[in-house]
Amino acid sequence: MEKDLTILAIETSCDETAAAVVRNGREVLSNVIYSQISLHTVFGGVVPEIASRSHIEKINPVIEAALSEAGTKLSDIDAVAVTYGPGLVGALLVGVSAAKAIAYAARKPLIPVHHIEGHISANYIENKDLEPPFLCMVVSGGHTHLVRVADYGKYEILGRTHDDAAGEAFDKVARAIGLGYPGGPKIDKAAKEGNADALSFPKAHIKDAPLDFSFSGVKSAVLNYLNDCRMKGLPISQADVAASFQKVIVEVIVEHTMEAAKESGLKKIALAGGVASNSELRRQMEEACKKHGYQFYRPSPIYCTDNAAMIGAAGYYDYLNGKRAGWDLNALPNLKLS
Ligand code: KG4
Ligand code: ZN
Repeated sequence: MEKDLTILAIETSCDETAAAVVRNGREVLSNVIYSQISLHTVFGGVVPEIASRSHIEKINPVIEAALSEAGTKLSDIDAVAVTYGPGLVGALLVGVSAAKAIAYAARKPLIPVHHIEGHISANYIENKDLEPPFLCMVVSGGHTHLVRVADYGKYEILGRTHDDAAGEAFDKVARAIGLGYPGGPKIDKAAKEGNADALSFPKAHIKDAPLDFSFSGVKSAVLNYLNDCRMKGLPISQADVAASFQKVIVEVIVEHTMEAAKESGLKKIALAGGVASNSELRRQMEEACKKHGYQFYRPSPIYCTDNAAMIGAAGYYDYLNGKRAGWDLNALPNLKLS
């Protein structure tokens, strides 16, 4: 039997300051998340400068809490993994600097982790039997990628968005109907009270790229509908708009995932990213997988939105693949997955 490998993981790419201790990629010993949501709510979205300052204040206490909740000392840690991109550069830099300082002082290897690879790897935490190859639909605030996970650390993007990310569309529509930030969970909740067939918003199909996405059309259609109602003095049902908008987004994501599964021959389907915690998306994707005979995987909601346990899971396989960073590791805001 191989020796256990315990990783301290750090994630600060957007508005969550997070640290976790993860053993052998799949066993979470601690998962501490400080959410900055309350700091950004008054501005209706994440303010990068405020995010960086808050990360600086919270990073050390969050790392200390992660080590103490796991019952580990720095000397018990075998490596330090950190998100180095993509994300907000000032936010990423705080995590990268903390990880470099700790790894250097404790003489541990430093593992650079791609944020989206982290989201995908969140599926390994609760599904001990899941191994590549599989298909992963990544839907977050910044990304919408249909990914063929060929092997640990080997990714092929089969479909991507041409404009807004799915989470971005949720956030913009939520703001327009007065639900505020963060929009995704609020639309999810409001939609439960609404009629998804009350309004008809368009589904975009990209010519010659059937697995790609476009969400700006549906977002504009919602904004036009709202303007029209306001000009005519007609009442607006937040719940019906939320449900009808969510229906279009969810249907497009499920349809494209099923198409990609058919084309690629992959029979294991996973969801990842903040929007993967959407209750209707989880329900419809599970139903579609059952219908087609695919095995369906999705992380618990706490591992869908940004967290460091997923960085520890990805970091473990990166470590086994020999990936290491030097002390010159930098934050890369536009880092590509493949
Ligand atoms: O993965 P994530 O935490 O951060 C990024 O890497 O972007 O995703 C955040 C996004 C936000 O746009 C948020 O509105 C969305 O995920 N989100 C949801 C839900 N929970 C979070 N969208 C739809 N339904 C939800 N329940
Ligand atoms: Zn994320």
